[in-house]
Amino acid sequence: MPSTIGKIRRALLASAGGAACVALLASCGGGHVPLPALSPAVIGDTAGLVARGEYIVRDVAVCGHCHAADPRDPDGPLSGGRAFRNWRLGTIRASNLTPDAQTGLGRWSDAEVVRAIRAGEDRDGHVLAPVMPYAWFRGMSERDALAVARYLKSQPPVHNPVRNRPNLVYRAARIFALSPARPTTTVAPPPAADAAYGGYLAKHVSLCGDCHTPRGGVQQKADLDRLFAGDASSSFPENPANLTPHEETGIGGWTEEDFVRTLRTGVNPRGDRIHPFMPWRELRRMRDDDLRAIYRYLRTLPAIRNPVPEKAPEDASG
Ligand code: HEC
Ligand code: HEC
Repeated sequence: MPSTIGKIRRALLASAGGAACVALLASCGGGHVPLPALSPAVIGDTAGLVARGEYIVRDVAVCGHCHAADPRDPDGPLSGGRAFRNWRLGTIRASNLTPDAQTGLGRWSDAEVVRAIRAGEDRDGHVLAPVMPYAWFRGMSERDALAVARYLKSQPPVHNPVRNRPNLVYRAARIFALSPARPTTTVAPPPAADAAYGGYLAKHVSLCGDCHTPRGGVQQKADLDRLFAGDASSSFPENPANLTPHEETGIGGWTEEDFVRTLRTGVNPRGDRIHPFMPWRELRRMRDDDLRAIYRYLRTLPAIRNPVPEKAPEDASG
């Protein structure tokens, strides 16, 4: 069924029969995700939620990489404005996540913030640009997303209107192709230094998977069959490394101590400095058990041969 709709959508896109699409299938792209109930049975103990949210926002997901007023200072106020520009989008800016009533999340309920993070649907029911990594956050537990929402609400409000300039390609995509993500998880695996929890962190809370998985196709979707195989042709200032246990092209030869030391110091076992686009300066604050959990998860992945050359130094300045 979904694939049929996909085919129809693609056919209509190809024939530019836009209006017909709207008339035929009440929602081609779009669709809505209900607000989460955030029931006490799912959320559990609410003590320490703001501290948990701070840890996720600042040290694990590093939301400030995109949402900080100055993305070079991801620990600063999350008042937004960083522009993402390309032919698929036009100009989309990271939103103001401070609780300012007019320009930020001041009037949003907890459930609305949780839905925006996990499903990419905003308060008005619009799908967010997929630059916002809800394709990964859809697996974040309701409790962790609520913790994030509570932490954001605890921050001082900053008045900063953020304006988008979507181009025609993106406006069409929003109508015909993009939909909010269906959240996949309500509860997280129990925190432990094991592969199950490591996989949860690496794919759904931290954005290791978002950067370290190759992308392709018109929508630049992550190739989930090659999870963590690195991206040799990224648009980033440096190419994200292959983190699968492949001996020559991945981190197969690394011990757990090598891995933890690399994330804490920004220097890998070969003595190379890691480009700061990889947010190791924030990730190094992650708990020891959490880094070990991620390493143990990465060891369970299939070893994928994918050499990821470094970019020429002149490209790697940003
Ligand atoms: C890779 C960049 C990136 C990261 C990382 C990121 N976001 Fe976003 N986020 C965006 C962009 C860009 C938008 C605006 C999308 C749009 O306007 O369509 C956005 C929108 C949002 C919105 C909707 C706000 C509104 O006013 O509509 C929320 C809430 C949000 N992000 C929360 C977060 C949180 C919390 C984190 C960390 C856990 C995070 N984001 C991490 C790029 C990012
Ligand atoms: C914003 C994108 C981004 C995110 C998020 C990210 N990385 Fe990276 N990572 C990179 C890039 C780019 C490089 C390559 C840097 C270089 O070559 O200097 C890298 C390099 C690394 C390296 C060094 C590999 C080597 O061979 O030297 C490790 C290990 C690593 N990342 C692990 C992680 C883990 C674990 C996470 C999540 C906790 C993570 N990364 C999140 C972009 C990212």
